[in-house]
Amino acid sequence: MNDPDAGKRAARPRRATVLAVGAISTAAALGAAWWHWRAPSAADGADPAVIAQGREVYARYCASCHGERLEGQPHWQTRRADGRMPAPPHDATGHTWHHPSGVLFTIVKNGVQAYAPPGYQSDMPAFYGVLTDAQIRAVLAYIASNWPEAIRARQAEIERASRQRQ
Ligand code: HEC
Repeated sequence: MNDPDAGKRAARPRRATVLAVGAISTAAALGAAWWHWRAPSAADGADPAVIAQGREVYARYCASCHGERLEGQPHWQTRRADGRMPAPPHDATGHTWHHPSGVLFTIVKNGVQAYAPPGYQSDMPAFYGVLTDAQIRAVLAYIASNWPEAIRARQAEIERASRQRQ
């Protein structure tokens, strides 16, 4: 009864339990973070092989207008004399990342007309029948891989918000 060590002995297993629970919840938090990071988003493929494929697609099919380094055409925000818009940058200075990846996918596959008024004229080609869906996803993953982390996070937010609206 009067054993001065009794309290310590009792406390020991409890501390072990606390440590174990702590370790489990840390693991769960890391797991959740990992899942979050891996959560699929067409514009946020983290697979280096996919990004490498996307880089090739970009160089061959997109760079002539959108720029070797995704910088877009000069004065891209000013409509040309022929009424058409120049090609915008795909880097962080453009607005590509303002769109959820489903919208970007549709633009690349079917052209911008899906989101424009009837009869809208654009230089942006539709890649339907030219690129496979996997190539389109790869080129979007490559584009996204050039965005700084903060921009990727914001695009992921836009992505989540658009999924919730569906
Ligand atoms: C012949 C020139 C040309 C080529 C080649 C081209 N684009 Fe474009 N793209 C444009 C133009 C011009 C626009 C702006 C469309 C508009 O506003 O009318 C555009 C717009 C876009 C947009 C919408 C961007 C935004 O911020 O809203 C995406 C996405 C896009 N292009 C992706 C691609 C990808 C990916 C490729 C290659 C597979 C590609 N483009 C090839 C000219 C081109």
